[in-house]
Amino acid sequence: MKVEGGAAESIRGNPCGAGAFACYPPDRLFNVQQMRYWQSKMLEEDVYSAIGEEGFNKLVAAFYRQVPTDSILGPMYPREDLTGAEYRMRTFLIGRFGGPPTYIQERGHPRLRMRHLTFQINQAARDRWMQLMTNALDETQLQPEADAILRAFFDGMSSFMMNS
Ligand code: HEM
Repeated sequence: MKVEGGAAESIRGNPCGAGAFACYPPDRLFNVQQMRYWQSKMLEEDVYSAIGEEGFNKLVAAFYRQVPTDSILGPMYPREDLTGAEYRMRTFLIGRFGGPPTYIQERGHPRLRMRHLTFQINQAARDRWMQLMTNALDETQLQPEADAILRAFFDGMSSFMMNS
């Protein structure tokens, strides 16, 4: 049913169902703006179905393509196993964002902060990592809501990974 604007739309967005206003006190009624946001908001676990394996492949490939020649990150990553590193990152992200749990099956609980303790990650390393990932996102042009979720996730996680 297509309903536009006004009270009718408020009813449609009410999780209690149309005509169930009584389940909320009047000051708890959602306005139309809030409901649109709520209804359209993509969840983290929906990112995989939005961009697919293909989206993650492209993103992670675009990130790792920049690593070998990077002055800070290049020396940190295993030159002889960059394909393996790319695979670990890709399977981690796919599992984290609603796809198959291959990473956890193969590597166990991510414990990413702990796994990163062997690398000296200071502000400069964090900022460079984030820069390369931002370049990769810009290049890959993923579906906009998925892109926004991933950018916010990487921003927070890269800061969390700092250890020196
Ligand atoms: C902040 C700067 C960061 C630096 C300098 C960094 C560096 C590294 C390095 C050198 C490795 C080893 C490569 C390998 O052999 O797997 C690695 C692994 C990994 N990183 Fe990061 N990383 C950073 C942030 C992140 C972030 C934000 C994430 C999450 C999205 C992440 C996810 C991973 C994963 C999943 C692995 C593989 C872990 C494993 O299973 O052993 N890293 N990282």
